[in-house]
Amino acid sequence: MKIYKQICVTLLLLFVFQTLVAQNYDESKTGSYHLPEMLVTSDGKKITSFEGWERIRRPEILKLFEDHVYGQFPRDFDNIDFKITRQDKNAMGGKATFKEVAIKVTRNQNEVTVNLLMFTPNEPKEPVPVFLVINHRGLKTMDITRQNKDGFWPAEEVIDAGYAIAGFDVADVAPDNNDHFTEGILEKLYPGQLKMDNGMRALGAWGWGASRAIDWFEKDESIDAAKIISVGHSRGGKASLWLGVQDKRVAITVSNESGNSGAALSRRNFGETVERITQSFPYWFAPNYRQYANNEDKLPVDQHMLIALIAPRAVYVASAAEDLWADPKGQYMALKAAQPVFELYGINTNLPSEMPEVNQQIIHPHMGFHNREGKHNMTPYDWQQFMKFADHYFHRQ
Ligand code: GCU
Repeated sequence: MKIYKQICVTLLLLFVFQTLVAQNYDESKTGSYHLPEMLVTSDGKKITSFEGWERIRRPEILKLFEDHVYGQFPRDFDNIDFKITRQDKNAMGGKATFKEVAIKVTRNQNEVTVNLLMFTPNEPKEPVPVFLVINHRGLKTMDITRQNKDGFWPAEEVIDAGYAIAGFDVADVAPDNNDHFTEGILEKLYPGQLKMDNGMRALGAWGWGASRAIDWFEKDESIDAAKIISVGHSRGGKASLWLGVQDKRVAITVSNESGNSGAALSRRNFGETVERITQSFPYWFAPNYRQYANNEDKLPVDQHMLIALIAPRAVYVASAAEDLWADPKGQYMALKAAQPVFELYGINTNLPSEMPEVNQQIIHPHMGFHNREGKHNMTPYDWQQFMKFADHYFHRQ
């Protein structure tokens, strides 16, 4: 028994060592790399206008991400049905209305229900923008009784700022677990995807769930559906970016510390790598992605191109200074490297060449960024920055 315990402890330590120490955290060792051409088509033509981008290059890059990274994003189903299952017009001491909406989607006689939780402010009495959180931290972070006020989903602050806040548990569409992720839309609605090397997996499913929440927002009269802000932290941030790319109804895409395979450049070899992520979380990605483990240079895309696919809509990238695993600098570099596509639309973002100081938010045309002090998390401070950016972008100050 004792020896068994010792073996377990040793294995655990080895794992922790491999995770924390074996990654590169040394700026001088990021090496040199060449990012794939963003504005040259597969047959070598230079893209110089947003029309050319939208007609030729954007679809090409989108397909590369589908085929090699996140998998397809199916949009077909037979029916969608919305039902308000709980409502309280006097929530938060009267300043908000709470709603739970059961969104039932049917395909080939099978169904899946996404439960959307949302608070909307009672004042002003006009449709408001909404922050939609792709939530992988469970329902406890979105306590509808508001006994537990979790900074991850600071509903009171968001309501006070005149925004609605909504969220759903990713487990409704794809449990965040290697053995169970199929037990949602993948088995029930889109089983064919599971047979494909470029098929949808968990991250795509979470984005799909958010798209169904947006289907509801378009019907909910308390929401201004032209002002939808998608938010995700870490793995949720990766899904938020993929959603922002796939669903043009998202006005602002927020990625909070999404790191590798999110906002950070994959080729930079700093913090988490494609090798680590596809080993620990293979079920997040299309199976094809694994071939780029320790082989990032062969990827036909890098993550700046993902951000570029969101143009001309707005993108906000948040980092935390101690969250080196998610490579704050690599996230800033990707954001900056996405600029040329925004420029095609006449948006001169002009981000500074160096990442801003810790806790110094920058808000430039259609792009924002901050690098908060502290660790990996999504906190009320981060939310204050998201709201400042949204106020600015929607001209609400
Ligand atoms: C792990 C994983 C990251 C992910 C993070 C999270 O650390 O390696 O890629 O972003 O979990 O979701 O918190």
